[in-house]
Amino acid sequence: MLKIVTLVSGGGTNLQAIIDAIENGGIKNAQIVKVISNKADAYALERAAKHGIAAQAVVKKEFPDREAFNDALIAAVDEAAPDLVVLAGFLVVLPVKMIEKYRGRIINIHPSLIPSFCGNGFYGLKVHEAALARGVKVTGATVHFVDEGTDTGPIIAQKAVEVKEGDTPEILQRRVMEQAEWVILPGVINDIAHGRIKLSRSHPEERSDEGSYYGGEK
Ligand code: GRF
Repeated sequence: MLKIVTLVSGGGTNLQAIIDAIENGGIKNAQIVKVISNKADAYALERAAKHGIAAQAVVKKEFPDREAFNDALIAAVDEAAPDLVVLAGFLVVLPVKMIEKYRGRIINIHPSLIPSFCGNGFYGLKVHEAALARGVKVTGATVHFVDEGTDTGPIIAQKAVEVKEGDTPEILQRRVMEQAEWVILPGVINDIAHGRIKLSRSHPEERSDEGSYYGGEK
Protein backbone atom coordinates (compact mmCIF):
# COMPACT_ATOMS: atom_id res chain seq x y z
CA MET A 1 0.00 0.00 0.00
CA LEU A 2 1.56 3.28 -1.15
CA LYS A 3 1.43 5.79 1.70
CA ILE A 4 0.91 9.35 0.46
CA VAL A 5 1.29 12.70 2.18
CA THR A 6 -0.22 15.60 0.23
CA LEU A 7 0.91 19.20 0.71
CA VAL A 8 -1.67 21.87 -0.16
CA SER A 9 -2.16 25.64 0.09
CA GLY A 10 -5.57 26.37 -1.35
CA GLY A 11 -8.85 24.94 -2.63
CA GLY A 12 -7.59 21.38 -2.91
CA THR A 13 -9.25 20.38 -6.19
CA ASN A 14 -6.24 18.25 -7.08
CA LEU A 15 -6.37 16.67 -3.63
CA GLN A 16 -10.06 15.98 -4.24
CA ALA A 17 -9.24 14.33 -7.56
CA ILE A 18 -6.82 11.98 -5.76
CA ILE A 19 -9.34 11.24 -2.97
CA ASP A 20 -12.08 10.53 -5.53
CA ALA A 21 -9.81 8.28 -7.61
CA ILE A 22 -8.85 6.26 -4.53
CA GLU A 23 -12.51 5.94 -3.52
CA ASN A 24 -13.74 4.99 -7.03
CA GLY A 25 -10.91 2.61 -7.85
CA GLY A 26 -9.09 4.91 -10.29
CA ILE A 27 -6.13 4.60 -7.95
CA LYS A 28 -5.58 1.22 -6.29
CA ASN A 29 -3.08 0.18 -3.64
CA ALA A 30 -2.59 3.71 -2.29
CA GLN A 31 -3.75 5.71 0.71
CA ILE A 32 -3.48 9.39 1.63
CA VAL A 33 -2.27 9.17 5.24
CA LYS A 34 -2.03 12.92 5.88
CA VAL A 35 -2.73 16.31 4.31
CA ILE A 36 -0.56 19.23 5.38
CA SER A 37 -1.16 22.90 4.54
CA ASN A 38 0.78 26.09 5.17
CA LYS A 39 -2.62 27.85 5.42
CA ALA A 40 -4.84 27.07 8.43
CA ASP A 41 -7.92 28.10 6.41
CA ALA A 42 -7.13 26.14 3.25
CA TYR A 43 -10.34 24.48 2.03
CA ALA A 44 -8.18 21.50 1.12
CA LEU A 45 -7.92 20.74 4.85
CA GLU A 46 -11.72 20.60 5.05
CA ARG A 47 -11.78 18.22 2.11
CA ALA A 48 -9.36 15.94 3.96
CA ALA A 49 -11.36 16.06 7.20
CA LYS A 50 -14.59 15.21 5.32
CA HIS A 51 -12.91 12.02 4.13
CA GLY A 52 -11.45 11.10 7.51
CA ILE A 53 -7.89 11.94 6.46
CA ALA A 54 -5.51 13.42 9.05
CA ALA A 55 -5.07 17.14 8.32
CA GLN A 56 -2.50 19.51 9.79
CA ALA A 57 -1.62 23.16 9.27
CA VAL A 58 2.01 24.26 9.60
CA VAL A 59 1.85 28.04 9.42
CA LYS A 60 4.99 30.12 8.88
CA LYS A 61 3.95 33.04 11.09
CA GLU A 62 3.60 30.70 14.08
CA PHE A 63 7.36 30.08 14.05
CA PRO A 64 10.17 32.40 15.10
CA ASP A 65 12.02 32.03 11.81
CA ARG A 66 12.10 30.17 8.48
CA GLU A 67 14.41 27.48 9.83
CA ALA A 68 11.94 26.59 12.60
CA PHE A 69 9.07 26.50 10.09
CA ASN A 70 11.09 24.27 7.75
CA ASP A 71 11.91 21.88 10.59
CA ALA A 72 8.24 21.73 11.63
CA LEU A 73 7.16 21.02 8.05
CA ILE A 74 9.70 18.21 7.69
CA ALA A 75 8.67 16.77 11.08
CA ALA A 76 5.00 16.83 10.04
CA VAL A 77 5.84 14.88 6.88
CA ASP A 78 8.24 12.48 8.64
CA GLU A 79 5.61 11.68 11.27
CA ALA A 80 3.44 10.12 8.55
CA ALA A 81 6.36 8.10 7.14
CA PRO A 82 5.17 8.45 3.52
CA ASP A 83 6.39 6.56 0.47
CA LEU A 84 5.34 9.49 -1.74
CA VAL A 85 4.92 13.23 -1.14
CA VAL A 86 2.48 14.96 -3.51
CA LEU A 87 2.52 18.76 -3.92
CA ALA A 88 -1.02 19.62 -4.98
CA GLY A 89 -1.26 23.39 -5.25
CA PHE A 90 1.42 23.86 -2.58
CA LEU A 91 2.86 27.36 -2.84
CA VAL A 92 5.77 27.18 -0.40
CA VAL A 93 9.38 26.53 -1.46
CA LEU A 94 10.37 23.18 0.04
CA PRO A 95 13.34 23.12 2.40
CA VAL A 96 16.46 21.72 0.70
CA LYS A 97 16.78 19.27 3.61
CA MET A 98 13.37 17.85 2.71
CA ILE A 99 14.19 17.53 -1.01
CA GLU A 100 17.39 15.69 -0.13
CA LYS A 101 15.62 13.40 2.32
CA TYR A 102 12.75 12.55 -0.09
CA ARG A 103 14.58 12.84 -3.41
CA GLY A 104 12.85 10.87 -6.13
CA ARG A 105 9.71 10.56 -3.98
CA ILE A 106 8.21 14.08 -4.28
CA ILE A 107 5.96 14.95 -7.23
CA ASN A 108 4.28 18.22 -8.22
CA ILE A 109 1.45 19.19 -10.55
CA HIS A 110 2.05 22.33 -12.61
CA PRO A 111 -0.68 23.88 -14.79
CA SER A 112 1.33 24.25 -18.01
CA LEU A 113 3.35 22.14 -20.42
CA ILE A 114 6.78 22.59 -18.83
CA PRO A 115 9.17 24.17 -19.92
CA SER A 116 6.60 26.76 -20.97
CA PHE A 117 5.15 29.16 -18.40
CA CYS A 118 6.93 27.76 -15.35
CA GLY A 119 9.52 28.78 -12.80
CA ASN A 120 9.50 31.66 -10.34
CA GLY A 121 6.31 33.72 -10.43
CA PHE A 122 4.37 31.21 -12.55
CA TYR A 123 1.63 29.80 -10.32
CA GLY A 124 -2.17 29.65 -10.29
CA LEU A 125 -3.89 32.09 -12.65
CA LYS A 126 -0.59 33.78 -13.59
CA VAL A 127 0.31 30.69 -15.63
CA HIS A 128 -2.85 30.96 -17.72
CA GLU A 129 -2.58 34.75 -18.07
CA ALA A 130 0.90 34.24 -19.55
CA ALA A 131 -0.30 31.48 -21.91
CA LEU A 132 -3.13 33.68 -23.20
CA ALA A 133 -0.82 36.71 -23.50
CA ARG A 134 1.61 34.63 -25.60
CA GLY A 135 -1.22 33.37 -27.78
CA VAL A 136 -0.47 29.66 -27.52
CA LYS A 137 -3.07 27.37 -29.12
CA VAL A 138 -2.30 24.48 -26.80
CA THR A 139 -1.42 24.42 -23.12
CA GLY A 140 -1.90 21.73 -20.49
CA ALA A 141 -0.46 20.33 -17.28
CA THR A 142 2.69 18.55 -16.15
CA VAL A 143 3.50 16.15 -13.33
CA HIS A 144 7.18 16.18 -12.47
CA PHE A 145 9.58 15.07 -9.78
CA VAL A 146 10.60 17.87 -7.45
CA ASP A 147 14.25 18.91 -7.18
CA GLU A 148 15.93 22.01 -5.77
CA GLY A 149 14.72 24.19 -8.62
CA THR A 150 11.27 25.61 -9.35
CA ASP A 151 9.36 23.30 -11.73
CA THR A 152 12.72 21.93 -12.95
CA GLY A 153 12.65 18.27 -11.90
CA PRO A 154 12.32 15.34 -14.36
CA ILE A 155 8.98 15.34 -16.18
CA ILE A 156 6.81 12.28 -15.54
CA ALA A 157 3.60 13.04 -17.46
CA GLN A 158 1.93 15.78 -19.47
CA LYS A 159 -1.50 16.28 -21.00
CA ALA A 160 -2.36 18.90 -23.62
CA VAL A 161 -5.47 21.08 -23.55
CA GLU A 162 -6.81 23.28 -26.36
CA VAL A 163 -6.92 27.05 -25.84
CA LYS A 164 -10.23 28.33 -27.19
CA GLU A 165 -11.28 31.66 -28.72
CA GLY A 166 -12.49 33.98 -25.98
CA ASP A 167 -10.87 32.06 -23.13
CA THR A 168 -10.31 34.07 -19.98
CA PRO A 169 -7.60 32.96 -17.52
CA GLU A 170 -10.34 31.58 -15.27
CA ILE A 171 -12.01 29.58 -18.05
CA LEU A 172 -8.70 28.23 -19.25
CA GLN A 173 -7.60 27.33 -15.69
CA ARG A 174 -10.79 25.35 -15.18
CA ARG A 175 -10.37 23.47 -18.47
CA VAL A 176 -6.73 22.65 -17.66
CA MET A 177 -7.77 21.41 -14.21
CA GLU A 178 -10.69 19.29 -15.49
CA GLN A 179 -9.06 17.90 -18.63
CA ALA A 180 -5.43 17.61 -17.53
CA GLU A 181 -4.53 18.10 -13.86
CA TRP A 182 -7.29 15.94 -12.41
CA VAL A 183 -6.45 13.20 -14.96
CA ILE A 184 -2.65 12.97 -14.98
CA LEU A 185 -2.02 13.44 -11.25
CA PRO A 186 -4.21 10.49 -10.20
CA GLY A 187 -2.90 8.56 -13.20
CA VAL A 188 0.74 9.04 -12.19
CA ILE A 189 -0.04 8.11 -8.57
CA ASN A 190 -1.79 4.94 -9.79
CA ASP A 191 1.26 4.10 -11.93
CA ILE A 192 3.57 4.64 -8.94
CA ALA A 193 1.31 2.50 -6.74
CA HIS A 194 1.61 -0.30 -9.32
CA GLY A 195 5.35 0.03 -9.79
CA ARG A 196 5.09 1.30 -13.35
CA ILE A 197 6.93 4.42 -12.24
CA LYS A 198 9.78 3.69 -9.90
CA LEU A 199 10.55 5.83 -6.88
CA SER A 200 14.06 5.96 -5.55
CA ARG A 201 16.12 7.98 -3.12
CA SER A 202 18.93 8.65 -5.57
CA HIS A 203 17.30 9.48 -8.86
CA PRO A 204 13.93 8.85 -10.42
CA GLU A 205 13.93 6.11 -13.05
CA GLU A 206 12.07 6.51 -16.31
CA ARG A 207 8.62 5.04 -16.59
CA SER A 208 8.78 1.33 -17.40
CA ASP A 209 7.26 0.49 -20.78
CA GLU A 210 4.34 -1.41 -19.23
CA GLY A 211 0.97 0.26 -19.31
CA SER A 212 0.24 3.89 -19.07
CA TYR A 213 -2.34 5.83 -17.20
CA TYR A 214 -4.07 6.72 -20.47
CA GLY A 215 -4.62 3.17 -21.66
CA GLY A 216 -3.36 1.34 -18.63
CA GLU A 217 -5.11 -0.14 -15.64
CA LYS A 218 -7.41 2.27 -13.79
C1 GRF B 1 -3.91 24.47 -9.67
O1 GRF B 1 -3.93 25.24 -10.86
C2 GRF B 1 -2.66 23.63 -9.64
O2 GRF B 1 -2.20 23.27 -10.92
C3 GRF B 1 -1.68 24.52 -9.03
O3 GRF B 1 -2.41 25.15 -7.97
C4 GRF B 1 -3.74 25.39 -8.45
C5 GRF B 1 -4.76 25.14 -7.36
O4 GRF B 1 -4.79 23.78 -7.11
N1 GRF B 1 -0.52 23.79 -8.58
P1 GRF B 1 -5.83 23.11 -6.05
O5 GRF B 1 -7.23 23.44 -6.51
O6 GRF B 1 -5.55 23.72 -4.69
O7 GRF B 1 -5.55 21.66 -6.12
